[in-house]
Amino acid sequence: MAESLTRTSGVVLRGCGSATPNRSISNEDLGQRVETSDSWIRSRTGIAARKVVGADESLAELSAQAAERALQMAGWSADSLDLILLATSTPDDLFGSAPRLQARLGATNAVAFDLTAACSGFLFALVTAAQYLRTGAMARILVVGADQLSRWVNWDDRRSCVLFGDAAGALVMEASTDGRDDLEGFLLRSDGSRGEVLQLPQVSERNPLVGDSTHQCGGFLPIQMNGQEVYKFAVREVPAILTELLQETGTKANDLNWLLLHQANQRILDAVAERLSVSSDRVLSNLAHYGNTSAATIPVMLDEAVRDGRIEAGHRIASSGFGAGLSWGAALLRWSGPA
Ligand code: ACO
Repeated sequence: MAESLTRTSGVVLRGCGSATPNRSISNEDLGQRVETSDSWIRSRTGIAARKVVGADESLAELSAQAAERALQMAGWSADSLDLILLATSTPDDLFGSAPRLQARLGATNAVAFDLTAACSGFLFALVTAAQYLRTGAMARILVVGADQLSRWVNWDDRRSCVLFGDAAGALVMEASTDGRDDLEGFLLRSDGSRGEVLQLPQVSERNPLVGDSTHQCGGFLPIQMNGQEVYKFAVREVPAILTELLQETGTKANDLNWLLLHQANQRILDAVAERLSVSSDRVLSNLAHYGNTSAATIPVMLDEAVRDGRIEAGHRIASSGFGAGLSWGAALLRWSGPA
């Protein structure tokens, strides 16, 4: 833990990494399971394929691969981490998978816990991590966004199964003492009153307990989604929260190098970019290859664009996550990269 930092510390984004399962399922493959077509899926979503965890893969393993790549980019050893935040709605263990990730990495000095906010999870975790860094309570934090929604998709529901895939993405951040702050602003929102449009609800079966009393049994139903309502929510709230953030931070759309949105659907990305007047060449998109990987989409996209040179040191990025809860948020980031 950092003891000498001041409350005025900012945060610096130092490294990123990602990992996806080995197995890719194309739109044509899915057509063997449900009545759909490559042209329907591509035209409505922009998705061509998705990666799905196999029997020998786990969320902790994917997360560890992504985290190791982020640590390697930053040039940090795992035992220098103070905190590991794992944003996921689909842990290997409902009690939390972050400690397993900590053990796999050998991050013996880090406390580790899960944070659940569906597709907004990575952004919420990044902002949470920044608070620990800014107060001076911690110096180095690993944030992972990882999900394996394939375990919870109804693969016979063509309205939802074509959308989702599995992946993990990681970001390592540290406290700065020189005034630099790569998190220039953020806004977070929740609205549980609209939560029923996208749910992974508990089963409501009851089993006998003792005497006349019963208990609810464990387990969850597959993902239930009202696609049109989710779409309307996204294209209304995401431009609104990004506009508010840009105003609050005195930023013009032209000042941004990149728009990095949760990769849910290409039509949502296009609609948000149009409303913000951001040209399509500044909108990052890789959902054609992975589909919607929930908490993983933003860090996986970040990692891809950093490694192929699109995102350079000093670039400014407006990011927004949105999804179940309902939850949504926006952050204005600057990429620093390794020291
Ligand atoms: N293949 C072929 N036909 C299909 C498929 C499919 N995979 N899915 C639906 N259809 C059919 C429907 O049955 C319907 O036919 P009908 O009129 O005969 O009943 C027709 O296509 C139109 O269906 P809609 O649901 O109206 O299609 P829409 O244009 O709304 O597209 C979609 C559906 C892609 C799901 C869209 O609503 C969407 O992208 N919504 C947002 C979903 C999303 O991003 N969810 C994740 C949010 S993030 C998170 O937190 C997880």
